[in-house]
Amino acid sequence: MNVPDLYRIEHVEYACEGVKVFRFHAPEIARASQPGQFLMVWLPRHDEIPISISDVCEEDVEIAIADVGDCTHRIHEKGAGDMLGLRGPFGRGFSFENVHRSKICLVAGGYGAAPLKFAARRLIERGARVYVLLGASTESNLLFVDDFKRMGCEVRIATDDGSSGFKGTVVELFVELFGYDVRYVDEVWTCGPEHMMYRICSITKNAAIKTQVAVERIIKCASGACDSCDIGGLRVCTEGPVFDADVLRDTEFGLWKRDESGMRVPVKTGNIISPATPPIFIPEDDPMLESNVCGIQFKNPLMNASGFAVSGKMLYRIAKSGAGAVVTKSIGLHASHGHPNPTFIEIEPQTYVNAMGLPNPGINAYKIEIEEAKRANVPLILSIFGRDENEWLKIVKIAVNYPIDMIELNVSCPHSGFKALENDPELLCKVVRKVSYVAHSHHIPVVVKISANTADPAYIASLVEKHADAICAVNTLASKPVERSLGIPILGNPSGTGGISGKKIAEIGKKVVFRIAENVGIPVVAVGGIFSAKDVFDYAAAGASLFQIGSAIVSRGLLIFEEIKNELRKMLSEKGYKNVSEVVGMAHKR
Ligand SMILES: Cc1cc2nc3c(=O)[nH]c(=O)nc-3n(C[C@H](O)[C@H](O)[C@H](O)COP(=O)(O)OP(=O)(O)OC[C@H]3O[C@@H](n4cnc5c(N)ncnc54)[C@H](O)[C@@H]3O)c2cc1C
Ligand SMILES: Cc1cc2nc3c(=O)[nH]c(=O)nc-3n(C[C@H](O)[C@H](O)[C@H](O)COP(=O)(O)O)c2cc1C
Repeated sequence: MNVPDLYRIEHVEYACEGVKVFRFHAPEIARASQPGQFLMVWLPRHDEIPISISDVCEEDVEIAIADVGDCTHRIHEKGAGDMLGLRGPFGRGFSFENVHRSKICLVAGGYGAAPLKFAARRLIERGARVYVLLGASTESNLLFVDDFKRMGCEVRIATDDGSSGFKGTVVELFVELFGYDVRYVDEVWTCGPEHMMYRICSITKNAAIKTQVAVERIIKCASGACDSCDIGGLRVCTEGPVFDADVLRDTEFGLWKRDESGMRVPVKTGNIISPATPPIFIPEDDPMLESNVCGIQFKNPLMNASGFAVSGKMLYRIAKSGAGAVVTKSIGLHASHGHPNPTFIEIEPQTYVNAMGLPNPGINAYKIEIEEAKRANVPLILSIFGRDENEWLKIVKIAVNYPIDMIELNVSCPHSGFKALENDPELLCKVVRKVSYVAHSHHIPVVVKISANTADPAYIASLVEKHADAICAVNTLASKPVERSLGIPILGNPSGTGGISGKKIAEIGKKVVFRIAENVGIPVVAVGGIFSAKDVFDYAAAGASLFQIGSAIVSRGLLIFEEIKNELRKMLSEKGYKNVSEVVGMAHKR
């Protein structure tokens, strides 16, 4: 399962000033690891951070950690015999296609040398000729110089102050050695500060040299769920961290990244220059699956669940993957970083517990993401949350000016750090009434998203029925996973409580949707453990008209939308239905 396991630190030593190398005996991780992949390193009671695998020796795994901040500093205080949590390997590493007998140039800046050391070992084993260009500010910061030499790499050094090798940056050294016409080498692989890699990629692009880039972004779930690591609609944690430079060309690579809230921030300094906006997309008609709910026309009733896409480009990509609508991450009034890691674990196959803590860039910064997503021409549902009545109203008053089609009120997150609104029925009714008043005056329908965590979700639904236009159920189911040997919660938030999603909640979700549909006369949006057309069919029969897919994206990828649509069309025609809406509420008919 995808949870941290505790490993003993076998050996630790400084590899250069500020960087320590930690070695663990971890046979399973060692066997599975590829150069360029990373581990999530858990410091219990504190944080969990992504760290590249810097080497694998038989059954031992090595990582190199630079002491740059709070968590890395505390890890540096650990010695041999201490325990750290590890899980992984995660992500996509370097591609070794066609490397035999080829000339590969590795360009590293700072601790970027770490994944390249492991890559160099595998390249040499495969008969490649390896040139290593290592850059650092000064000689004492140069990482793994002797290791690369011992492996048989040809090593060149650049230091900013000239204390060792070439005086200048590693990019200048690259130009000095190869000129701007780099055809002397077959491929360039690079890892280091992003502005450095960006400059290398500009040179290799002009020379048409294949280049692989190891990118860093904020990694939270490490599993392709939360989209915190988004780069141009790609998830660094699963589709990277190593990308072909061509893939990154139309993204924000080298220009800006996102902080822990998802807010756009410059890579170095200066302005945030937007890369190209996505082209207009026209979704295809789908007569068997088209639906009209709350006066909105959906080409098909499938959409992502809230929390699985933060960026406009990811929402756009979900629409292009076949979703009939898209739902944003829950957005609050102000930017929020969410909870410390671990934030997402797998407790059973395809069943997860998360405690993201609603990280989001805040409603004002979110307009640009909505505008990008809307280029996909599918209905956009903006999910919002407030900490009090005032916040809810402020957010909705801003949101109604954005190009959105519906508003989903997340009143049911079990790990937000404040009391979920569904637990305060009086306030819930007041907020839904006031928010709906504002939204309705702009002709925007309101969906209220509830969970199965209250004693009677159907009762909660009936309370808001008068003012809401639809009910969405279910949010994640509260749970507190514990690390048994330490006897402490695994999740990084103060309470240790998260929410279960995926396979395990489908059954309860279907029951709750049935009960809600029995109790209210407004449409129901189903969410919770939808992995197949059968799940959609069950939820529809229970009374749902629209269907949100979350955790299945983690285990099945974005193809899930086309797969379920194909299965569903087949299932409907086999049973003689002309349109999916004919199934809605079937289980209630006597
Ligand atoms: C794929 C990948 C591979 C990496 N490989 C290495 C490596 O081999 N060696 C190395 O020294 N560093 C590596 N890093 C960077 C390393 O993860 C950060 O330096 C580390 O998270 C900083 O934590 P901190 O608390 O010490 O720093 P602080 O600056 O104190 O961090 C502040 C907060 O930001 C969070 N944070 C900062 N960066 C990240 C991140 N990328 N993902 C999630 N949370 C983050 C921290 O968890 C903390 O909550 C890698 C990063 C990525 C994305
Ligand atoms: C990583 C993650 C982040 C989530 N973030 C949100 C969120 O921001 N707002 C929200 O209403 N629900 C959020 N949820 C809950 C989902 O939208 C959905 O209700 C739940 O995961 C059940 O659906 P599933 O079983 O298909 O995943 C999140 C769930 C996960 C796993």
